Amino acid sequence: MTTITQRQWIYRQQPVGAITPEHYELVERTLDTALAEGEVLLESRWFSVDPYMRIGQSSKPTYDPDPHPLNTVQEGGVVAQILASRSPNFAPGDWVQSYTGWQTHAKAHSSTLKKLDPQAAPVTTALGVLGMPGRTAWFGLTESGKPHAGEVVVVSGAAGAVGSLVVQFAKRHGARVLGIAGGPAKCAWLKEKLGADWALDYKAFTSADALSAEIKALTGGVDVYFDNVGGMVTDAIIPIINRRARIVICGQISQYSGGLETAEMGPRLLQHMLYQRATIQGMLARDYLHRMDEMIRIVGPWVKSGDIVFEETVVEGFEQLPAALNSLFTGEHRGKLLVKA
Ligand SMILES: NC(=O)c1ccc[n+]([C@@H]2O[C@H](COP(=O)([O-])OP(=O)(O)OC[C@H]3O[C@@H](n4cnc5c(N)ncnc54)[C@H](OP(=O)(O)O)[C@@H]3O)[C@@H](O)[C@H]2O)c1
Repeated sequence: MTTITQRQWIYRQQPVGAITPEHYELVERTLDTALAEGEVLLESRWFSVDPYMRIGQSSKPTYDPDPHPLNTVQEGGVVAQILASRSPNFAPGDWVQSYTGWQTHAKAHSSTLKKLDPQAAPVTTALGVLGMPGRTAWFGLTESGKPHAGEVVVVSGAAGAVGSLVVQFAKRHGARVLGIAGGPAKCAWLKEKLGADWALDYKAFTSADALSAEIKALTGGVDVYFDNVGGMVTDAIIPIINRRARIVICGQISQYSGGLETAEMGPRLLQHMLYQRATIQGMLARDYLHRMDEMIRIVGPWVKSGDIVFEETVVEGFEQLPAALNSLFTGEHRGKLLVKA
């Protein structure tokens, strides 16, 4: 029997606030490398770290009926290389995208994998601009936001994986775009590199009213609000939406680190939806999985030509995964956050 040493991050305990050492355990085990027909053996090279991992830890119902099970490997997207194969479709050395989670090696059935062509695009883009975050940004904006040329699109979480793409996609639709992010460096990046017309640092405002007044003064009012964060930023925007505004609820990250467990907030601002005959729509990337090829056909050439900035922040080391997940909430990264094995 041939074996290899496999390391895994096991999800042990539900966190409410930040993740601390009792929530995940790093274990080492021996993996028998024998494969069944159709299976491959993978070595993980890149791990995606995503805010949805914290949604999956909520004990309340979410878009999944059950929370992420305890005492199992943390689920997540991975870019891996094939070490051994009993599938005619994959050979050792091939790059693939898998959903094998936080483990250094895994056996997977070939039907669950997507082959990647490293000549077509950097393999890491399968976890970012040409993967789930790209799909979220593209379909969230075009199908729910429906921006028109000249309209004002406001994006919260604008310097992150999804937000940074929404900013650029909205510009390509001819919209005037305001990005909201934490800190002056991210705001400068939004304007200088991503082409945002305006950028605001929400951390520089002590109240939703003050932020609201500044957004109103800059833009005159908001036609499309692409919301990644919720909380105070959203409180600032809803009162200044324009007639028939579209509000896209993509994420509410300000609530994930404990806020999903406490009493839900009341709909405090919905009178503005009435006044402006606006719509508010939640969108989920998985609902557009069947249209992935369509997104790649449109966005892929922009990636290849360099017309889209798809920055990646790389954290080195498999053992850094839980810390990297925490860092989504302190906002140290720009673009897509990845962990390199
Ligand atoms: N609907 C879907 O299918 C779908 C798919 C993917 C992602 N999402 C959602 O989209 C959002 C962004 O995801 P992502 O993967 O692109 O992550 P990301 O934006 O790359 O990282 C999260 C960012 O959120 C900001 N943030 C953290 N806590 C915050 C708070 N309390 N208030 C305001 N901003 C805060 C931080 O940036 P700052 O430095 O600017 O604070 C951080 O960099 C998340 O809410 C996620 O759940 C939804």
